[in-house]
Amino acid sequence: MQLHDARVVLTGASGGIGMAITDALCAAGSRVLAVARHQQALAPMLERYPDTLCWVAADLTSLSDRRKVLAAAAEAIGGVNLLINAAGVNHFAMLEQLDDGDIDAMLAVNISAPICLTKLLLPLLKQADSAMVVNVGSTYGSIGYAGYASYCASKFALRGFSEALRRELADTRVNVLYVAPRATRTSMNSAAAQALNDALKASVDDPQAVASAVIHAIAGDRRDLYLGWPERFFVRLNNLLPHLVDRGLRKQLPLIRRLSEKPDNESLKP
Ligand SMILES: NC(=O)c1ccc[n+]([C@@H]2O[C@H](COP(=O)([O-])OP(=O)(O)OC[C@H]3O[C@@H](n4cnc5c(N)ncnc54)[C@H](OP(=O)(O)O)[C@@H]3O)[C@@H](O)[C@H]2O)c1
Repeated sequence: MQLHDARVVLTGASGGIGMAITDALCAAGSRVLAVARHQQALAPMLERYPDTLCWVAADLTSLSDRRKVLAAAAEAIGGVNLLINAAGVNHFAMLEQLDDGDIDAMLAVNISAPICLTKLLLPLLKQADSAMVVNVGSTYGSIGYAGYASYCASKFALRGFSEALRRELADTRVNVLYVAPRATRTSMNSAAAQALNDALKASVDDPQAVASAVIHAIAGDRRDLYLGWPERFFVRLNNLLPHLVDRGLRKQLPLIRRLSEKPDNESLKP
């Protein structure tokens, strides 16, 4: 896809990864409709790109707000040929620590919203000469990890949705790209989640590096993008020899439990 021709609807645009993608797309000449509930973080970029960037306030879990996004795409950027579903929420916590509201809200944002928004925008996407849906998943969409059970469930679902939709759209001009970042330095990760990454010496990417890889994958019409070589290796290993991964992760369980259950783990509320 030619980025300078792109008319982009980007959810999660006020977040760490979303803002970096917004910046990269605007710099490449795309017209971008930034979707988020809050505008504050986007304000400097809205000033920097007054002609090509606009924002619509939307809670993606609401049907009427998703319809607002559809209307804004038609009015503000003249249609859409690139939908990037990057909004997401995560709580690092053992399952029993989460109340049902936390779980419902996570599933609503991470899986119901991108499915329903994609459905709503598909007629517009299909009108374009070439179009793409990009779903931002996670390494945790391929590896089940303690402390992230419902988040993993949502990202496994997003990966399945992406694969099925790609096959469903195989005879159209709409491609589907599934992106799986590894840990990335954004406010999504609570102090406890960061402490776990530190303790495990896990690599943490800058959002700009993730954005750059995503932009290249879009420009190259890729079907998937998995970031980080050890993570890619563990995804393969988990597919082939899950018992080996079970054993490795079992050793991390006391640490995961201790950090997630610390009284100052504030990850339970966004
Ligand atoms: N950070 C990581 O370590 C990491 C790793 C792998 C994958 N990912 C994935 O990458 C994506 C971006 O993550 P991030 O780290 O950039 O997260 P972030 O900084 O926490 O940003 C989250 C974004 O989601 C939006 N959002 C949340 N709830 C929403 C709702 N109900 N309606 C509309 N928008 C909503 C937020 O916007 P408002 O609050 O303004 O609405 C914000 O723009 C997510 O899908 C995440 O799962 C992140």
